Amino acid sequence: MVCIAVLSVMLSVLCSCTPQSEEDRFIDNLLSRMTLEEKIGQMNQLDPSWDSEVKEQLIREGKVGSVFNIVGAEQVNRLQRMAVEQTRLGIPLVAARDVIHGFRTIYPIPLGQAASWNTGLVEQAARLTAQEAAAEGIRWTFSPMVDVARDPRWGRIAEGYGEDTYLASAFAAAATRGYQPSIAACVKHFAGYSASEGGRDYNTTWIPETLLRDVYLPPFKAALDAGAMSVMCSFNDLNGLPSSANHHLNVDILRDEWQSDALLVSDWGSGSDLVPHGLCADKKEAALRCINARMEMDMQANIYTDYLAELVREKKVDEKQIDVCVRSILRMKYRLGLFEHPYVSEQKPAPYSEQALVTATQLAEESAILLKNNGILPLRDNLRILLCGPMADQPKEQLGTWVFDGEPDHSVTPLNAFLTHTDNPDAHIRMVAGLSYSRDRNTTRFAEVERAAREADVILFFCGEEAILSGEARCRADLNLPGAQAEMMDMLSATGKPVVMVVMAGRPLTIGKQVEQADAVLYTFHGGTMAGQALYNLLTGKAVPSGRTPVTFPKMVGQVPLYYNRHNTGRPSYDPPMLIDSIPVGCPQFSIGQSSYWLETPTEPLFPFGYGLSYTTFMYNDIEVLPVEGQANHYTVSCCITNTGDRDASETVQLYTRQLSGDLVRPIRELKGFEKIHIPAGESRTVRFTLTPEQLAYWHERKDNCESRVWLATDTALFQVWIAPDSRCATVPDTLRINL
Ligand code: BGC
Repeated sequence: MVCIAVLSVMLSVLCSCTPQSEEDRFIDNLLSRMTLEEKIGQMNQLDPSWDSEVKEQLIREGKVGSVFNIVGAEQVNRLQRMAVEQTRLGIPLVAARDVIHGFRTIYPIPLGQAASWNTGLVEQAARLTAQEAAAEGIRWTFSPMVDVARDPRWGRIAEGYGEDTYLASAFAAAATRGYQPSIAACVKHFAGYSASEGGRDYNTTWIPETLLRDVYLPPFKAALDAGAMSVMCSFNDLNGLPSSANHHLNVDILRDEWQSDALLVSDWGSGSDLVPHGLCADKKEAALRCINARMEMDMQANIYTDYLAELVREKKVDEKQIDVCVRSILRMKYRLGLFEHPYVSEQKPAPYSEQALVTATQLAEESAILLKNNGILPLRDNLRILLCGPMADQPKEQLGTWVFDGEPDHSVTPLNAFLTHTDNPDAHIRMVAGLSYSRDRNTTRFAEVERAAREADVILFFCGEEAILSGEARCRADLNLPGAQAEMMDMLSATGKPVVMVVMAGRPLTIGKQVEQADAVLYTFHGGTMAGQALYNLLTGKAVPSGRTPVTFPKMVGQVPLYYNRHNTGRPSYDPPMLIDSIPVGCPQFSIGQSSYWLETPTEPLFPFGYGLSYTTFMYNDIEVLPVEGQANHYTVSCCITNTGDRDASETVQLYTRQLSGDLVRPIRELKGFEKIHIPAGESRTVRFTLTPEQLAYWHERKDNCESRVWLATDTALFQVWIAPDSRCATVPDTLRINL
């Protein structure tokens, strides 16, 4: 067994011997001159856009460490002058904002970004986002959100990178690298927030320590390893303890084990939420629980400003605890260069640079997943095209959730793109929306759509969800297309004309029936400013679809949570299982067998994780696993991939493993690597992955005399290995085995 935990202890010993840095000297010196009140002021983050006079007075009194939701170089500089020029120590503010998937130029929602499987492009989008935001005075974003989400009912699935830990970790690191150093990243929500019971936001989570460490924590660690300067607590109670008061998460793991010096900020009011949670009787007790769990900055709740000094006077809190927190805050400001350059230039570069728009277009293209194609796509020239559906021309809705600064006026909708960019002067483009918005139930305009459909050669049906239906507190108990969209699809399909369904949504929807009805399906999530342009490029063949599902698509909501890296159970589903309508009347209890599935549906999803089609086809050959010379238990896994079609295109090659025996049951598939490669038509490329024992490690737990101990280790076991185009690993005939 390889015990990796020992490494972190060795590291901490090394760290304690290093001489004091310039940064430490600066912070120590400043801290030694601060009063208790000034220190507590630094721990206060507020939104001065509300009730500004009182709050500006607080800034002048040195009682604010960070402001948020103030946008614009002039506005930020004005407040900054109060902090730098009118307070005793002149400590600069750090201006924060939720810049989640773009500032002015909006990129696809993070779930869509994950569908690109292109970390370089996501890093580039984050870099351009940070530049646009920094020009307006923002130096701290509350992103990336890296909560691994296995439940599409949960509205915040839109904000993260999907259901897989490895994929989310890759994007967590990429986004962090992109944001910094222009603005500080804040990896959130620490931790387990996405496992809320029933997919209902803010709800309770129960996550065993080993699952927490295997599935939910690695993306946080990846962002921190990439240098993320801050971390945000989550709202949920995790095994009964809300994160803001969770010493185990915030100290044992984040500080002691990971040795992170990133600033830990609460979520909005998550400190005072300890009262409604039922953990604390009042806010003063909440402040005590939070400081004892080392929540370092209080976003909006005022529990530190109101009670910390009193708690110190009462000797319930040691001032040294406060120093530790303030040190983190000053450190982040120091690393952002705010002490040297507190102000932002008011000669700001214009947003929507050509580079930003090109990147937004490319990312929106790569985020779209071709789920089905009977051959209608790419569209031939000279077709009479009908655009219809509630999302065909919605400049605001296509931007998605968490957009504060993006301007719908700059959105290119599918309709704009088809009207503006069609090169062919004879093209026949017509638009009849039929429904005004995604929840619209008014079908009176269907007759007009139907008439137009009958005159068209192809129907492009833009459906999905408006932006407001996903994101924070926007959970759904029903994953069908809302409003009368399913009825609209019935009507379109009945015309007998080819229908291309384009879905813009904040989550995977249960669209099995519509997929059957459609001739082609392109799933784009919410694609941002350039979504329409990207869709136009894809539909007309100017770009080739390359998106892959970052999350499993269920057939029906009752299957949820449904994710690819599940356990097999001791009684995997029979193939085919006996479904409800095929059970004979009066059938004896056990005569149809006992296996793991639902009577309405087998365990199979509508679309598996990692899935997506192209306008070309790829062949996987010569899959090989070879030991790496001189490195015990290291393997090179390689495969030759040939583009067998007539279009140059990108393929996302995926490496999966399954452990077949061991100390604990392991998932049926686990993603261990991926590479998106461009292969010209007719050419082949060899892709190589290295598989190390560390990649095959997982968290073990033992309870001795009720004391629990966890450790990361790799079992001596047999593993299956696949290189495949998606998580079914079905198209590759030979699976390979390695023995560790
Ligand atoms: C959300 C965070 C967000 C914060 C600040 C909270 O409600 O959970 O993700 O960063 O608000 O707007």
